Amino acid sequence: MQAPGPGAIETARMLPGLARDPLGTLHGLIGSYGDVVRVKAGPMLVYLVADPALSKYVLQDNYTNYRKSPIYDEFSILLGEGQLTTNNLDYWRAQRKLIHPAFSHSHVRGFAEDITSSTDTMLARWDAGAGQYRDIYDDFVRLLLSVTGRILFSIDLSDDTTQVTEALRAAFDFIMKRVNAPVKLPRSFPTPQVRRVTHKVGELDDLVRRLIAERRDGSDTADLLTALVRARDEDGRAMREEDLLNEIKTLLVAGHESPANALSWACQLLATHPEAEAALAAEVRQVLGERPPTFADVKQLRYCRMVIEESMRLYPPAWIVERTPIADDEIGGYRVPAGARVTLCMYHIHRDKRLWDDPEAFRPERFTDEEVAERHRFAFFPFSGGPRVCLGKDLAMTEMVLILAMVAQRFRLELDPDHVVTPLASVNLRPQNGIRARPIRRS
Ligand code: HEM
Repeated sequence: MQAPGPGAIETARMLPGLARDPLGTLHGLIGSYGDVVRVKAGPMLVYLVADPALSKYVLQDNYTNYRKSPIYDEFSILLGEGQLTTNNLDYWRAQRKLIHPAFSHSHVRGFAEDITSSTDTMLARWDAGAGQYRDIYDDFVRLLLSVTGRILFSIDLSDDTTQVTEALRAAFDFIMKRVNAPVKLPRSFPTPQVRRVTHKVGELDDLVRRLIAERRDGSDTADLLTALVRARDEDGRAMREEDLLNEIKTLLVAGHESPANALSWACQLLATHPEAEAALAAEVRQVLGERPPTFADVKQLRYCRMVIEESMRLYPPAWIVERTPIADDEIGGYRVPAGARVTLCMYHIHRDKRLWDDPEAFRPERFTDEEVAERHRFAFFPFSGGPRVCLGKDLAMTEMVLILAMVAQRFRLELDPDHVVTPLASVNLRPQNGIRARPIRRS
C-alpha cells in the first residue's frame, strides 16, 4: 500500500515553507496525513515517520537494511569515513568495538575534572562581566570545544585562533551551505571554497597526526587519544592511522555541538520557568553546597538530569534522524522503496499529544523513573537508538549535568527582553541568533 501524502501541486506550494520553517511544515504534514507521510518532490522521495514503534523498527529491528542519511556524505570533506558517517557495517562494528571501551564508566569518571575546570573558567568570565547581556549559546559552544579538546587530547581549543576552530568553522560553513542548497556542484569540483576548506582540514589533519605520533612514542597523557592509540582488537591489532584520524575528528565534531545546543536550550527554558529554576537551585544547594561537583555527584543531581532531558524533549539537538533503505521495505504497512529517504521526526514524536500530556509545557517531572518506565522507549530518543545509538551519550549526560549544576550553583539567568530566541532546524536544532542573557550572581 502507498503511504498517504500531498499531491504534486500541494508539494510545490509547500516547498518554500519547508525551507523557511521545516518544523512547522513537517508538523502540518503529519497532522494532515498521519504517522507515515510520503512526499515526492522532483527526483526526491521522502517518507516522514512520526511514531515511536516505527522509529524502533528502522533504527533497531531492521537496522541492517538501512544506510545513514545522505547529509552525512557532506561531512566526508571533514570527517572522511568514521563512526558517525560510515555505511560499511562490518567496518563500523569493528571500529565501535575498539572505541567503545574508551567511553566506559571509569574513563568518563576521569574526565569530570576537565569538565569542571573548563566550566570554572567560563563562569569566571561571567563573573567578570556580571550584569551584562551576553550570548550564552556562543559561550557554551566555546566551553564544549574546550572540554572536548581536553578530553580528547589534553589541549585547550576554546581560543578562537587555533587551527582546529578555524578548520571546523570553515568546514561547517561549507557543509551547511551544501546541506541547505537545492542544487549543488559535485563535491570534488575545486571551487575556491572547496580549496580553502581542504587546506584548513589538511592543517587540522597534520595537527592530529602529530598528536597521534606523540602518543605512539609513549607519551602517557590520560585522555581519549591515548586510550584509542592503545586500543587493540581480539587479534592484538591497533587502529590504522587514517581510521584513528577520522575517528578523532568525528568525536571532536559530534562531541561539542550537540551538548552546547542542549545546554543553551536548558538555560533558556529555566530562565522562563522560575519554579523549575528554583527547584534546580535547591537541589544543587542541598547536594553540593558551595563546593564544586565531582563525578560521584552526577547520580545525586537527579532533578538537574531531568531538566536536561525535558529540554532535549522540547529541543532535541538532532531533531530528525534519517536513513535510506537498502532493499524495499514496509513501514507501518506502507511500501518504502530502496533509495528513498526515511526521516524519523524526533522533534514531532517528542511533542506528540498522544504520548505526552500537554506536550508544549516544560515539566522536568516527566522524567521520574516511574514515568519513564511507562513510556515507549522511542517516545524520547535524543541520542537515537538501536545499535547505532550515540556513542557519547553517557559522557554527554555527565558533561551536561556537571556544567548545568555549576551554572545553577553560581548564577541565575535573565533573558534580554529585546532579543527573540528562534529555533533554527539545520543539521542541529540551535538558537538562530544565539540566546542573549544576563548572568546574575546568586548571593
Ligand atoms: C547532547 C549531546 C548529544 C546528542 C543529543 C547526540 C545525539 C546523537 C545522535 C542522534 C546520534 C545518531 C545519529 C544517526 O544515527 O544518524 C549520535 C551518534 C553519535 N554520537 Fe552523539 N550526541 C551527543 C553527544 C555526543 C558526544 C559527547 C560524543 C562523543 C564525544 C558523541 C559521539 C557520537 C558518535 C561517535 C556517534 C556515531 C555512533 C555510531 O554510528 O555508532 N555524541 N549522537
